[in-house]
Amino acid sequence: MKRSSSLVMYTVLILSAMSVSVRGLAYGSVASDVLAGYQQSGAQPPDPERARVMWTEKYPDDNGKNTRSCASCHTENLRAAGKHVRTNKAIEPLAPSINRERLTDANKIEKWFKRNCKWTFGRECSAQEKSDFLSYILTQ
Ligand code: HEC
Repeated sequence: MKRSSSLVMYTVLILSAMSVSVRGLAYGSVASDVLAGYQQSGAQPPDPERARVMWTEKYPDDNGKNTRSCASCHTENLRAAGKHVRTNKAIEPLAPSINRERLTDANKIEKWFKRNCKWTFGRECSAQEKSDFLSYILTQ
């Protein structure tokens, strides 16, 4: 009994150590730094679920019709290629699991958050929203 329970403890310890390193890998240092920066500007810990919902929520276009969302260009499936809704230009998948170049450049992340939030929501995103989006994209 004693032996088996310490075996369980040991397995739990190994598994949690593994998930920490897997998470460290998946997040990459650039994305972790950017996330840390958002928290320094007052964001609470990121909530990928909130961003998943917001990803497909529709916001008004120039004609006041609710047609705009992040999915307009990136589609609902972040592992798939997207297409710019205006220019029709192809957009590589956003998911880092498919596209290793994603989220590896802090300036690029900020530049596109700024542009895309303005285009989609008509305003810039808060540190919290960017944090949520980033954590969501990272899990894809
Ligand atoms: C009008 C089209 C369009 C919409 C809508 C859009 N994006 Fe983008 N997004 C782009 C383009 C174009 C790029 C840059 C080209 C590329 O990286 O393939 C980009 C790049 C990005 C990047 C940079 C990824 C990296 O490689 O670092 C992020 C993050 C991003 N978008 C998030 C969002 C979020 C969040 C939304 C919704 C608020 C959104 N996008 C809505 C077109 C769009």
